[in-house]
Amino acid sequence: MEQYIIKGNTPLAGEVVIGGAKNAALGILAAAIMSDETVLIDNLPDVRDINVLLQAIEDIGATVIRVDKHAVKINGSTIKSMCIDLEIIKKIRASYYLLGAMLGKYKQAKVALPGGCNIGSRPIDQHIKGFKALGATVNMDHGMIEASADRLVGNHIYLDMASVGATINIMLVAALAEGKTIIENPAKEPHIVDVANFLNSMGAKIKGAGTDVIRIQGVEKLHASEYSIIPDQIEAGTFMVAAAATKGDVLIKNVIPKHLESISAKLEEIGASVEEFDDAVRVVATKRLSHTQIKTQPYPGFPTDMQPQIATLLALSEGTSTVTENIFENRFKYVDELARMGASIKVEGNVAIITGVSSLMGAQVSAPDLRAGAALVTAALVADGVSTVDQIYFIERGYEDFDLKLRGLGANIEKVDSEDEKAIKKFKLKVG
Ligand code: EPZ
Repeated sequence: MEQYIIKGNTPLAGEVVIGGAKNAALGILAAAIMSDETVLIDNLPDVRDINVLLQAIEDIGATVIRVDKHAVKINGSTIKSMCIDLEIIKKIRASYYLLGAMLGKYKQAKVALPGGCNIGSRPIDQHIKGFKALGATVNMDHGMIEASADRLVGNHIYLDMASVGATINIMLVAALAEGKTIIENPAKEPHIVDVANFLNSMGAKIKGAGTDVIRIQGVEKLHASEYSIIPDQIEAGTFMVAAAATKGDVLIKNVIPKHLESISAKLEEIGASVEEFDDAVRVVATKRLSHTQIKTQPYPGFPTDMQPQIATLLALSEGTSTVTENIFENRFKYVDELARMGASIKVEGNVAIITGVSSLMGAQVSAPDLRAGAALVTAALVADGVSTVDQIYFIERGYEDFDLKLRGLGANIEKVDSEDEKAIKKFKLKVG
């Protein structure tokens, strides 16, 4: 099985270019099938989740032409099936966006019920609440969700929590419903705004994305569009934290600094410096950082998708920090792995109490999920000695060329097969 092998204790230095936002791209690719004309989308991240969703879109009959690894043309006029099977949804939960897209366009859709995952149960009751409010009948049968409607009519929907997925799925259906839809308490993440902007580029009428109320005037149909996806705020934040953790000096390019404000503020609070440019941020840390308190919140609060990474940084900071995870119920699985590297973290309910240590030791660790995997790589970059991180397919779901980008910043990291003793020995000889 493939793994990363990493020799730590090298400050990251240089420049890295951030790719397109995975969590915007997933909603945008689903929305693209709602037109019967050709849509060109670029700045797509070349990551597993995107490639799986594109395969699902092709499987239902849409025309998918990969222009290059970061651009695709989609035409939904050739869709034949309204059913997304379990195999696909097991690979990627976000294929449930096709439920909203097909319900909105064809007034019918059938998608396997997404299970929980490594960070929590992740129910979709708010998605279903929105579909029903717009006039759909939703049935669960043998692990499948079936949604259908004679007519889809706009409504006033109040979300019980600011769910990213539910906000996107409801926007997709409401875009082609009759009349006006108001979504109260929507998620406000940058990727919500990006999906709304993309739908508007296809002729939808959506106002207020990114604010506390989204207003949607349904239209008859959606037309062709050419669209470029926003940069990935979480990939950018991951490199910002890695730069600070390794006491490096990194220019992170192709970002929207405003999207990174909560991360930049926390890094500056604990003693790193963050310099903002139009489409880049430079992160420098020269001394041991200090402790702080983190509470994950919906945007613009500190993102839950940056929680494992910042906790890793605080594991090396001076003093005692706390990290409170308010979004998901099981997002501390990486703590045991960090403890094996010498971190001192105690989890009580949804709070991790972190006592900073002066150094970590290299170890063999396993990525329990996407963002925790990125955090363990960050820990290995700082640790004394050689570490291996396995189950890296989790990491490759959301980070394009993660090892190559880190190597470009001076990190001693390679992707090897865990059975390939020769490659491992060669790496160890090379890094000394
Ligand atoms: C999206 O997941 C992201 N995934 C997640 O990123 C991210 O962590 C999350 O938003 C929060 O920002 C994609 O965009 C593909 P939610 P989503 O609906 O939409 C509960 C990553 O690392 N909830 O905002 O599933 C839910 O259980 C991934 O890239 C309900 O109770 O998140 C959670 O506790 C991990 N009922 C909270 O709300 C619902 O119907 C927020 O979930 C929906 C959600």
